[in-house]
Amino acid sequence: MAEKGKKLTIVGSGAVGTAAAQWAVSRNAADSIVLLDVVEGVPQGKALDLAQCAPLCGFTGSIAGTNDYADSSGSDVVIITAGLARKPGMSRDDLLDMNVKIVRSVTEEAVRHSPDACIVVVTNPIDAMVYTAFKVSGFPRERVVGMAGVLDSARYRTFLAWELGVAPSDITALVMGIHGDNMLPLTRLASVNGVPVEELLSREKLDEIVNRTQNGGAEIVQHLKTGSAFSTPGRAAVEMAESILRDKKRVLPCAAYLQGEFGIDGVFLGVPVVLGSGGVEKIVEFELTPEEKDAMQLSVEAVRKQVAATGL
Ligand code: LAC
Repeated sequence: MAEKGKKLTIVGSGAVGTAAAQWAVSRNAADSIVLLDVVEGVPQGKALDLAQCAPLCGFTGSIAGTNDYADSSGSDVVIITAGLARKPGMSRDDLLDMNVKIVRSVTEEAVRHSPDACIVVVTNPIDAMVYTAFKVSGFPRERVVGMAGVLDSARYRTFLAWELGVAPSDITALVMGIHGDNMLPLTRLASVNGVPVEELLSREKLDEIVNRTQNGGAEIVQHLKTGSAFSTPGRAAVEMAESILRDKKRVLPCAAYLQGEFGIDGVFLGVPVVLGSGGVEKIVEFELTPEEKDAMQLSVEAVRKQVAATGL
């Protein structure tokens, strides 16, 4: 008998969920994709539209839209995008009260139907929402992970590439910590195919790029006015989901639950992890400089405040 294909459910058919579904289809990231939302008709219509992309992009799986969690049964990965997005002037923290209720109920429903899934949380504020999903699901830490580092690192790599006039894919760079103002782009480790960017750009220019990365989400909110970024957040979530679904063992910066790694305990925070069929198969630890440790501590304090506000 043929092996059961890999199933991906995306909860939330707003901008990020739709982008994730589109990227998942275009990359054949799963054999079966379910787009789920409480709004009637929207996930159905969007899924039908995406299904009709198959002849153009070579998607060989199935995609369906639904309002019923029963259709998500047996998912290998559940991406949670449901929740409100930022408007101009709002911080990610302003969303916390509203989104914690949404993520709680989505998690309860999703794990009832997919008890063996890995959960990828995208809803903001990500580091607190992934904690919410972790607590509510009761899943082991390996199977609950937050998207942020892939997005923030992609922004950082893009800005570095623009400044250097080189292919963005040739930039390797890592952003750790919270998905917020205290995130930590690790300039020391950023390179163009192995050549350190610190040798190529001035300190002043690098600081400017770090600052633009830290405010990358807000810069887009200011332009859009009625929403926040969705294409790269959707792509980042699929990058993670695909590594789990296809057991790729990609090393990606993700919000993982730390239990002593990097000297941090009891919070989700962005660190490099190996993502495979077991979810977070490994947290890749390395020595931070004293300045980097201090910066990570700011992230820890900010996340602890968010988590306290969830009441969990
Ligand atoms: C951003 C939102 C997704 O950074 O937090 O664009």
